[in-house]
Amino acid sequence: MASVIIAGVGAYTPERILTNADLCKMVDTSDEWIRTRSGISERHIAGPDEATSDLALKAAAAALKDANISASEVDLLIVATATPDYPLPSTACVVQHKLGIPPHATAFDIAAACSGFVYALEIAYGQLLTGRYKCALIIGAEKLSSIVDWSDRTTCVLFGDGAGAAVLKKVDQDGIGIIGSDLGADGELAEYLYIPAGGSRCPSSAKTVAEKSQFLRMKGKEIFKNAVRVMETVAREMVEQHHLTFDQINLVIPHQANVRIVEALAGNLGVPLERFYVNIDRFGNTSSASIPIALDEARRAGRIKPGDYTLLVAFGAGFTYGSTLIRW
Ligand code: UT7
Repeated sequence: MASVIIAGVGAYTPERILTNADLCKMVDTSDEWIRTRSGISERHIAGPDEATSDLALKAAAAALKDANISASEVDLLIVATATPDYPLPSTACVVQHKLGIPPHATAFDIAAACSGFVYALEIAYGQLLTGRYKCALIIGAEKLSSIVDWSDRTTCVLFGDGAGAAVLKKVDQDGIGIIGSDLGADGELAEYLYIPAGGSRCPSSAKTVAEKSQFLRMKGKEIFKNAVRVMETVAREMVEQHHLTFDQINLVIPHQANVRIVEALAGNLGVPLERFYVNIDRFGNTSSASIPIALDEARRAGRIKPGDYTLLVAFGAGFTYGSTLIRW
């Protein structure tokens, strides 16, 4: 029997750090409000010359190095992003060329917002199992600072920029790597987090720019409630489907949107918070990059050991959600 393993991971966050104190100079907010309501102390912000693909490239290079695999071996490249370099071509094509992935590779972007990395994992997992591809590189990369209204205190304090990547391979061994993956989507909740303009429904114009409709709009409270609900459901289902209990899950890596969402999830599942990986204090919400950045850190910090079970659990605009169960 064959399995699909994560052969390497890597991450990159831009050098510039924007602290809560910096934000207090930009909008009517306070360090205390941001920390107590979201758990965020600082976030990384890309420079004016850095696009999403530049962050993606650095994370991808780190993941390939970690896996000891050269770019020439990659035949499937998926970039999950809500902030592509261009409406077209895909950011994956930009990365493919700059990284030196051969032109016979398949390269495309997916739009699943903050669930993008777990969506990419499932797609790569399925494709590798069929034998159609041999080596997949998946990347979650975002320059969210480019779609945030920096005068809107209800959103600008929450987001950051960054990228994380993983290399996936099929191995002839049973019961390791990706054990299970489950995704979901509920478009009825689309209005809770969206960007009104810049797409085909409302193309960019002087009017949309004047109205700041190119920036994201969010109903925070509604997202909060639904995030806790869907993450609890997919986490429980994944663990039950595989005849495990939460005591056997060594580490849960949730999408990093708000530490209070993670606390509520941990409480509902009855899992101690210490078994959740949390780094939102230093990065804010980096959307599709949040889980792979956390995964990379957790591995480096020795929080993941051979034989461990790790559960990834995500939610995002769409509404999208999903979970991945990994055995190392
Ligand atoms: O990846 C998915 C992306 N989005 C999310 O995951 C968002 C999920 N939701 C959340 O994280 C939380 O709902 C927020 C952090 C966005 C907001 O926290 P909250 O506890 O739901 O606060 P609230 O929206 O009820 O706002 C409470 C008060 C309001 O003032 P009034 O109406 O009570 O006078 C806001 O105007 O806090 C005010 N407020 C702020 N005050 C200082 C909102 N933003 C700020 C701010 N600084 N940055």
